[in-house]
Amino acid sequence: MKKKSLVMSLLALTSLTIQAQSDFVANYDEGKVPAYTLPSLLTCNDGTQITTSAEWENKRRPEVMELFQSMMFGRTPQEKVSAQYTLLKENPQALNGKATIQQVRMRFSNNGKSHDAILMLVKPNHAQRSKLPVIFCYNFLGNEQTLGHDSSILPHAANDVFPITVKGKDEEGYGSWDFDQIMDRGYVLATMCYHDIYPDGKNDLRKHSVATLFSDYVEESSMQPDTWQSIGMWAWGASRAANYLVTLPWIDADRMAVMGHSRLGKTALWTGAQDTRFRVVISNDSGCGGAALSRRCFGETIGKITDSFPHWFCPLLSQYDRREQELPFDQHQLLALVAPRGLYVASAEDDAWADQRGEFLAACAAGEVYHLYGLKGLETTVMPAIHQPITNSIAYHIRAGIHDVTTYDWTQYLNFCDKQFKLQ
Ligand code: GCU
Repeated sequence: MKKKSLVMSLLALTSLTIQAQSDFVANYDEGKVPAYTLPSLLTCNDGTQITTSAEWENKRRPEVMELFQSMMFGRTPQEKVSAQYTLLKENPQALNGKATIQQVRMRFSNNGKSHDAILMLVKPNHAQRSKLPVIFCYNFLGNEQTLGHDSSILPHAANDVFPITVKGKDEEGYGSWDFDQIMDRGYVLATMCYHDIYPDGKNDLRKHSVATLFSDYVEESSMQPDTWQSIGMWAWGASRAANYLVTLPWIDADRMAVMGHSRLGKTALWTGAQDTRFRVVISNDSGCGGAALSRRCFGETIGKITDSFPHWFCPLLSQYDRREQELPFDQHQLLALVAPRGLYVASAEDDAWADQRGEFLAACAAGEVYHLYGLKGLETTVMPAIHQPITNSIAYHIRAGIHDVTTYDWTQYLNFCDKQFKLQ
């Protein structure tokens, strides 16, 4: 009887949440942003104050990491999975002779299971250096789409499980790929379709994700509050790509950047927080659960995102639906985990859903940690005008237009990488 009433009340609670989320109306009024205090970056759980970079790294940074892995993205398993890399195709005269394209199958194996992903490397043919800087950036619509549907490019490995249906004009908003500029600037672009790691749908696609390779794999119904989900796995996949990149003699392993747009911007931040081999971390329009402060409840909220995309974050996060002020962390702390490496946060003028001001203010607040290293954060709390980037060790811009990655964005990211990598 007791058990039954518990189940009944849980059901009632669930339907209440569903009800509330279907009625959700985003706030876009700055005047209705609640008053809030950000959780401290430099005060430890035991109350001590951090004053040096060594104290940050040894004491406070692990505490902040723990918050994000236990409450937002889940715990990345530490178990080693073997990886086999096979060069499937090479075209030395791609992009009108400007680039060499390699398509590499990464086969991950463990516990008698295996899982494939296809990494595509676009390498400039006329670069000056023998070792080249590289930007890793997941794509939404398959490797071939990044090149405008080039038929020599293989479909993504997860094509059977999760075919990509978006075509033609629907592509707007998924990010454009400025290969000409990237090649001319001497950068390698490494990309992979994110569905290859975890097919991005909420209908129990976990069973087709890399999670199944691990000994502690559980189905959706048996997840713990801190079980990793898709963003955690996409971040894991980015680190596996890095494992391959550092083995290539023509890649400069000290000059690797990770960039991502939107949900993949959230992923880029979580990747950069965990994998310090990425010396530059770039978040393009990452919004809620990425660079934007949750406490502002502007545009997308924790309740809304965990309702729409329950497979992105660890199960515990949804408990903070309309309780953002009680969250023991906020997104400025995720950004601070990138310190002292280069961090770029960018917004788009027409992308209020991602809360541009919230992204900017989080980047401002992360500066406290950069100061411990004698580096500059944004050094202002006044949002810059459109197309006026601030580029210290933390960089920020807001550009005109919609939620997307444009040539303007790529130019700023390449400038920033040049500066951070001392290639100017
Ligand atoms: C949705 C979602 C965002 C996300 C975006 C994207 O709009 O609400 O959180 O960033 O999709 O990834 O395109």
